[in-house]
Amino acid sequence: MSDVIPATLIPGDGIGPEIVEATLAAIEALGVPFDWDVQQAGLAGIEAAGDPLPDATLDSIRRTRLALKGPLETPSGGGYRSSNVRLREAFNLYANLRPARSIMPGGRYENIDLVIVRENIEGLYMGHEHFVPIDGDPRAIGMSTGINTRQGCRRILEYAFEYAIAQGRRKVTVVHKANIMKALTGIFLETARQLYAEKGYSQHVEMDEVIVDACAMKLVLDPWQFDVLVTTNLFGDILSDLMAGLVGGLGMVPGANIGQDAAIFEAVHGSAPDIAGRGVANPVALMLAAAMMLDYIGRADDATRLRTAIDATLNLDQVRTRDLGGSADTRTFTRALCARIANA
Ligand code: NAI
Repeated sequence: MSDVIPATLIPGDGIGPEIVEATLAAIEALGVPFDWDVQQAGLAGIEAAGDPLPDATLDSIRRTRLALKGPLETPSGGGYRSSNVRLREAFNLYANLRPARSIMPGGRYENIDLVIVRENIEGLYMGHEHFVPIDGDPRAIGMSTGINTRQGCRRILEYAFEYAIAQGRRKVTVVHKANIMKALTGIFLETARQLYAEKGYSQHVEMDEVIVDACAMKLVLDPWQFDVLVTTNLFGDILSDLMAGLVGGLGMVPGANIGQDAAIFEAVHGSAPDIAGRGVANPVALMLAAAMMLDYIGRADDATRLRTAIDATLNLDQVRTRDLGGSADTRTFTRALCARIANA
């Protein structure tokens, strides 16, 4: 019997507990011996401990340095800061890796295999925001300050190039808006050019540059021209949702938040309050996040078994949830998937 793997498990809000239950069933079918420490965050954290990111949850991740997490609800406007953003800051999870791969043929786009590497801590998501009152209006002006540091740009770009080379990818596209935001995203582009030359990456991988708005159009017109994309925080958030749309929607795209000493794996989608509690959520994105987690801890064989079973359940068994045009509920899909794992 192999050693247990300590990891933190955050069921999250909305559909979180449903897709986490499904993903745990898949991991159990694989026989990977995680020792889960279940902790709360998001609305569930407020209910349990009066804080969307309770100390016990932070302590747990400090200990395990590895977490699988359901989506966390962040109310728009006033109130709490996003627990997701706080988690990334607390553990310095500077790299957000979001692969978008076609699994089901017959969609609007075929054979998509893209990865976006998004800077996860800096930029316009730092939360340096405030309102300026004028006359009787306390919120007459809304302001946000974005900050990108040379060091922050360097480490995410280095991560992207090293990742692309390690994975045998052909090209890294640097996405920016340096024509308008000359400081905020100019530093990102400038650092990319410097790093590419300084490290001799041109021996191993191609680099090109594209402005974010053109990138959005090109991704829709001809996504196959891209391979690995690297960009700053806000642009990466938006483009990764666009890329999810190329491969069947948010239910299909996982995300890894990776730092020097810790990593948190999750689906790209949110808590889907419109379908929460109905047992119809698609658990594939979180299962693919679990596959990324298995890769991260050096269990590539188990990751491949999981991805193969997902492919087979969707395409050979044609068991699909409603967002994918099928009629299966979450548990029916999960049973079919576990049978695939058991019979592989
Ligand atoms: P959302 O991703 O929760 O939902 C958008 C649409 O996609 C909805 O119609 C939903 O039903 C559908 N959808 C999402 N995941 C699905 C799945 N697995 N299966 C089937 N359908 C699915 O985005 P929304 O509504 O903008 O956000 C809801 C909440 O989630 C917000 O509080 C937001 O802050 C939070 N959120 C959390 C994230 C995280 O924890 N990483 C990421 C994005 C949003």
